[in-house]
Amino acid sequence: MTPKPAIKIESFVLFGALGDLSIRKLIPAWYYLERDDKLNDGLQILGIGRQELTRLQFQEKVNDALSTYVSDEYLDIGVISRLLNRFDYCCCDLQKPNSYQELSLSLKNLGKAVAYYLAISPRLFESVFDGLNGINVLTSSCRIVVEKPIGFDLESSKEINAKLLKHFEESQIYRIDHYLGKETVQNLITLRFANSLFSSQWNSKSIDYVEITAAESVGIEDRWGYFDGMGQLRDMVQSHLLQLLCLITMEPPNRLNDQSIRSEKVKVLEALKPINEKGIESNFVSAQYTDGENKIGYINEEGVDVTSDTETFVSIKAEIQNWRWKGVPFYLRTGKRMASKTTQIVIHFKSDGHYIFDQDSESLKGNTLIISLHPSESISLKVFTKPHGVDKHSTLRSDPMSLDFIKTQKLLNIPSGYQSLLMDILNGNQSLFLCKEEVELAWEWCDNALEAYKNSNQELYFYPAGTNGPKESEQLIQNNGHNWHEE
Ligand code: BG6
Repeated sequence: MTPKPAIKIESFVLFGALGDLSIRKLIPAWYYLERDDKLNDGLQILGIGRQELTRLQFQEKVNDALSTYVSDEYLDIGVISRLLNRFDYCCCDLQKPNSYQELSLSLKNLGKAVAYYLAISPRLFESVFDGLNGINVLTSSCRIVVEKPIGFDLESSKEINAKLLKHFEESQIYRIDHYLGKETVQNLITLRFANSLFSSQWNSKSIDYVEITAAESVGIEDRWGYFDGMGQLRDMVQSHLLQLLCLITMEPPNRLNDQSIRSEKVKVLEALKPINEKGIESNFVSAQYTDGENKIGYINEEGVDVTSDTETFVSIKAEIQNWRWKGVPFYLRTGKRMASKTTQIVIHFKSDGHYIFDQDSESLKGNTLIISLHPSESISLKVFTKPHGVDKHSTLRSDPMSLDFIKTQKLLNIPSGYQSLLMDILNGNQSLFLCKEEVELAWEWCDNALEAYKNSNQELYFYPAGTNGPKESEQLIQNNGHNWHEE
């Protein structure tokens, strides 16, 4: 049976329209979609915030956001004016039921197929659902969009999911992990399943180990209130790194649709080996940054509790207990205030066969595939060749065969993940969004690891701000005869 075409969204209602996410990410993403003629003529965007603003004042704020977060070379007055015309504003105190009556007046002017985007704290979700329910606007043609983290642990994520499912069908719920909107992340499926060269080698027979690194150079800045209660494992591993892991390791989906892709990811999460107390020492490193060159340590950041033992770095050896990946270690590493912002997946292939080249070159053996999300969006395969030279018959050199997407696809700039995500919300495609099971399984694994860590004797390690993490993280990977890939 051919599935019914999804309803096209006519209006966006953006809760938290003056917040960081809206200003830095969503408004610029809408700008690029407008520039590229991707938005329907009638699409309207209603911003909701606590500040009393007129429509014009809100449009000025949108304009300021564009000047700050879209680079001057891409700004075009015609595009700005078309986009600003779409924006309206309604002031609303989300915790006051009366406010929703005013909102209902603004909603009357909008098309009926509405996407409600909650760029607000999950603490306010219930008030918003009840408020919207009270004014009878939650129909089967609307969608609800929420951001990661969905909760703080398994229990709280279940509570949020239950609240969502009380008012919406799973097919109306769009849970965002913005990594899934990144072009290179979407490319993982194409790279793996459209290239037989890779698909035939993508298993424990050919792959030695895999690294997934999300190193950030930023510290906590003004996000301490949020971050200190979370830590790097909950903030980065629970969704971003585990999602990358799923896409790297899942079986080929039967179809390129949300159901097939999500169910393959769920199987990976089910197969993740739980980290228990005994495994902490060899599989888990947790650390916090201290004062480094020109950079202050975590507990010296403004407003921070000096006794905080929240981790700003973790590295983990993960294992997937299934047929394809038996015995392959997956090293996950992420931290704040590291030497540079680097987000990459590195696949180390095994070298097999009888080695016939120079002994000096032997350390080079084994191809490496580097999939970079940052600083460049690129794919690079390290291959071996003979250096030119009459006397260099048996020496090896390793060089990258590289695809930099900006260059190969002649792009003006790499779109932010949010452009893809907003388009998919408009068009009703859930492939790039998380389903309930994915969120809950990921929390279960993280909760287990955190509980095991708490019960173990392992101490919190430290690393100077601006470096690549603690020495214990080097040891974790070296104990298995491997090394972190550093350019
Ligand atoms: C967010 C985390 O989800 O992702 C932040 O809450 C983190 O702490 C950010 O800095 C990283 O995203 P990106 O796209 O810059 O790698």
